[in-house]
Amino acid sequence: MRKKLIAGNWKLFNNAYETESLINKLIDLRAAEMGADVVVAPPFTSLHAAHRAAGRSGIELAGQDVFWEEKGAFTGEIAPGMLLDAGCKWVIIGHSERRQYFGETDETVNRKINAALKAGLKPIVCVGETLRERESDQTTAVIGKQLEGGFAGIAAGMFEKITVAYEPVWAIGTGKTATGRQAQEVHAFIRGWLGKKHGGATAQIVRILYGGSVKSSNAAELMALPDIDGALVGGASLIADDFSAIIRLSAKTGK
Ligand code: 13P
Repeated sequence: MRKKLIAGNWKLFNNAYETESLINKLIDLRAAEMGADVVVAPPFTSLHAAHRAAGRSGIELAGQDVFWEEKGAFTGEIAPGMLLDAGCKWVIIGHSERRQYFGETDETVNRKINAALKAGLKPIVCVGETLRERESDQTTAVIGKQLEGGFAGIAAGMFEKITVAYEPVWAIGTGKTATGRQAQEVHAFIRGWLGKKHGGATAQIVRILYGGSVKSSNAAELMALPDIDGALVGGASLIADDFSAIIRLSAKTGK
């Protein structure tokens, strides 16, 4: 049985003060005591404040991205060791917004996954298709390519540290959620890919999160599906009541 993981991707929201206040609200709501693993990914500049506020609450931190070098002349980049130093255990890699707006490719995703694993960070690796790709029946081809490229050369043994997030690009921030059937179909495809590549045991331990307009109104249905092991939540993770409701509903759907 895979324990549910609910991660909040705060994107470009919340300065240090707002971060502290949101984490304090989540602690008051006992968000990390509901039976699911809880991770939040504030902007880099808010990580220290988040780490201080989270204390021993059980709320863990993720970076929203990472660079593959540890140090050097790379203006604007953040090293894996810096994320660890700021209190992160996790890092989101290959988010579709990075792929769309900042030139992220499967190859850079692969370098980042390797660097994160080497440093001891747990990567949450995002894959997903655009609306055009879905409408032209390319969904599994696109995701298969992202998996092949992103995970090229990663040994089976590393997958116990890896989480995959399926985020259909057309469902992100649009209020449109994949139906349970659409999501389950892709999650099963991803687990199948892991099984073919790295064996059934590996496929069974990897958590596959769904992301794209997850809200308290749709979380229970999605999280009950056999291959959905949690959520990567954007907008709703910025509101403490909504995020903790998603955690509560997900933790209940044990399977
Ligand atoms: P929304 O939940 O706002 O659609 O964002 C999803 C997402 O991109 C999480 O990484």
